[in-house]
Amino acid sequence: MPDWDLLLTDARIATMRAGAPDYGEINDGALAITDGSIAWLGPATELPKGTAVESNSVAGRWLTPALIDCHTHLVFGGDRAAEFEQRLRGASYEEIARAGGGIMSTVRATRAASADELYAAALPRINALAAEGVATVEIKSGYGLDIENELKMLIVARRLGEASGVNVRTTLLAAHTVPPEFDNAVDDYIDLVCDELLPQVVEHGLADAVDAYCESIAFSAPQVAKLFHKAADLGLPVKLHADQLSDGGGAELAAFFNALSADHLEYTSAAGVRAMAKSRAVAVLLPGAFLTLGETRVPPIAELREAGVPVAVATDCNPGTSPICSLRNAMMLASRLFRLTPEECLAGTTREAARALGVFADRGTLEVGKRADIAVWDISHPRELAYWIGTPQLADLLIGGHTTRP
Ligand code: NIG
Ligand code: FE
Repeated sequence: MPDWDLLLTDARIATMRAGAPDYGEINDGALAITDGSIAWLGPATELPKGTAVESNSVAGRWLTPALIDCHTHLVFGGDRAAEFEQRLRGASYEEIARAGGGIMSTVRATRAASADELYAAALPRINALAAEGVATVEIKSGYGLDIENELKMLIVARRLGEASGVNVRTTLLAAHTVPPEFDNAVDDYIDLVCDELLPQVVEHGLADAVDAYCESIAFSAPQVAKLFHKAADLGLPVKLHADQLSDGGGAELAAFFNALSADHLEYTSAAGVRAMAKSRAVAVLLPGAFLTLGETRVPPIAELREAGVPVAVATDCNPGTSPICSLRNAMMLASRLFRLTPEECLAGTTREAARALGVFADRGTLEVGKRADIAVWDISHPRELAYWIGTPQLADLLIGGHTTRP
């Protein structure tokens, strides 16, 4: 019986181990895989004697943990290119939303689309992410806003995972905006989500987490709190779109509910950062939305760093505020627009993104016992991953120890 299924040799390895300096680098390394998990890794000189079913030299290429996109809305109908033009002419995101456009315009297109149509439109998006080294993607609902269409979105998201081989984590974002049917009865909508939708979602195992949009144009903190209590009762972790357009105390709210993450955070206060530091919440930064909306207020990066809050980076892929299907581009934007270091960007799309999805125990770093989700790169240093734009450098992507390249 061979000791390993696959042995990769002649590798430079960025393990991204927590607390390790310089990307947790192992020079002239080897990595062995058994049953889809990492069985051994370290300097080639220390490789224990053993046999492998298959042994491949990666010819000095870099291995990193496969990338994780921990915040996307990549299942949706239609597009919002016309709104993008309206905003270029001076209209604001809030004005468009209050006039019935914005998220609601995507809700109309998503409700009108069949599950098959949504699936066909989203498959190239998830494949584009995988082509850049992404092995785990979070997908939110939130463009259905009624029971039938929220369930439809989550089912499509699960199906995308099965078809693409990418591991999909689904999030119920029914509290994304108030549907017109409940215009003057927002609390009734929250009750519908708590009492009918959420129990069905749990019963069918369709969501791994619950998210909400806490903002003046969406839901208030008390409304979100009601939903989060219900999620906790049903055993689902929560995350929050927080403080994107104004300081609504979103970071504090997320921390109070021990959320996996608080996302956006452009307007988060010092008190919000302090609250997050006392919780497990990861700060998920979304530079694609910042860029697309022409924002000028940068999230409190220095304060987050100083307080030791883990920082992740994601695409926020959606048709309204972040029409970006490239996590590599999001890394570049996070370094250029928010001045994250390239190492913070890579940690933010591997280790910290795994924490933001609650999957750190089995992925996000290259360590013995973790899933063999590994990206193989044609680069001379991992800082290049947050530097090039639109430059293909992925030599292979292993998911659960299996190559996804022919
Ligand atoms: O993450 N902020 C709210 N949700 C999305 C936008 C969705 C949309 O505009 O369609 C976001 O930016
Ligand atoms: Fe979002």
